[in-house]
Amino acid sequence: MERRVEDPEMGVTETRRPTDGEAPREQRFERWLAERVRPEDGQIPAFIFSSPEVYQLELERIFARNWLFVAHDGEVPEPGDYVTRRMGEDPVIVVRGEDNEIRVFLNVCRHRGMRLCRADLGNTSHFRCPYHGFTYDNGGHLVGVPFHKEAYGERLDKEQLSLLQARCERYAGLVFATWADAGPSLEQYLGDMRWYLDLLLKRAKMEVVGPPQRWTVDTNWKLPADNFASDAYHTATTHASIAAIGLAPSIGFGKDGYQIRAGNGHGLGLGIGPGPVVPPEVLALYERHLSSEQIDVWRRMQNLHATVFPNLSILMSSATGPQGRRVIHTTVRQWQPLGPDRLEILSWLVVESEADPQWKEMCRRAYILTFGTSGIFEQDDTENWSNITANVRGAIARETLNFNYTMGIGSEEPVTGFEGPGRALGTKFQEANARAFYRRWLDLLLSAD
Ligand code: FES
Ligand code: FE
Repeated sequence: MERRVEDPEMGVTETRRPTDGEAPREQRFERWLAERVRPEDGQIPAFIFSSPEVYQLELERIFARNWLFVAHDGEVPEPGDYVTRRMGEDPVIVVRGEDNEIRVFLNVCRHRGMRLCRADLGNTSHFRCPYHGFTYDNGGHLVGVPFHKEAYGERLDKEQLSLLQARCERYAGLVFATWADAGPSLEQYLGDMRWYLDLLLKRAKMEVVGPPQRWTVDTNWKLPADNFASDAYHTATTHASIAAIGLAPSIGFGKDGYQIRAGNGHGLGLGIGPGPVVPPEVLALYERHLSSEQIDVWRRMQNLHATVFPNLSILMSSATGPQGRRVIHTTVRQWQPLGPDRLEILSWLVVESEADPQWKEMCRRAYILTFGTSGIFEQDDTENWSNITANVRGAIARETLNFNYTMGIGSEEPVTGFEGPGRALGTKFQEANARAFYRRWLDLLLSAD
């Protein structure tokens, strides 16, 4: 027999069996999560977007174990180049060593835990800790200790005090890292998603335009991540003003195309319409790098939004610019959690290295106008996400609401004849990808090892 109880320790109302009261607190919390989060039924409880307990589990079981995007390799082209990022809340340095290898180190001094490197980016052969001066080379080895002999004699084993290093692999210019020693390679982890990353990021030699734009939003990281994997439906309302001022052809601009589930929680929406959205000379560049199936997709593709689980999204968005010319641009973005209700967004514009400078400049302007820090689409989206996050801090919404992700349940037969891998559904107005995202999320959260 089940009963409803108030659990003051959790601060929530839960349904549980009487014997659960004897289980350890963590097990009770996990059992309760498994009861409340029902992705296949499209039922996602509001509390997962504000709960500190859920967030702590995410840091431990998602961000500390999965492959995470950390940088574009174009940010660190020369030996000694580095950028500082986070994996979950752990600070890391992404650095190209003297041997040209890119490595990822925990940005924490092995002596007493000080942040080793405090700059966003730079070039250096060594990192010197600002607290007591321990110095590491850009391969992560401790090579210098002030007053070594006087302070430690022979007792300090520097070889045991290298920086902690994550596994690091690259795909399509994207640098990923994971703290998991074992487990799938990056290519295995990306699976079917590779074909779409090729479509976007191997279509030509691509370069990043400057350092990422960065801004913070008061939202939970999952809201934008699931939006980019799955939510084309919001475009007709949230972004309706874009059509009203003529940047998009109609409010239905987000509807036609495919929603594609790519495994491991990865997913994308691929918009289809008449005619290619890049000029012939740019499309000709792609023909040198892509398969004929991928070129066929490029001839029809109008936009693409994707999430690589958990927190990397890619966006290819087209809009008609002020001069009346349609321009498509591509951005890579990282949803960097700073807490259960705070997020830093890092966003990189990528362009074709060999393209005409005028095309690159048009892409840059389109990016700034639409999805840059102050872009008009971006403002629309962040208003929704921050508002939802504020609402689910309230006791009633948090504890009683289930968000509805039922769109398309019962009509998930994949189409035949689509060129790419994965499970392609014949409309973008679907929430199958969000259900797959939360299934993957839940499985990881419930997996203790
Ligand atoms: Fe870095 Fe002491 S904390 S040298
Ligand atoms: Fe949007």
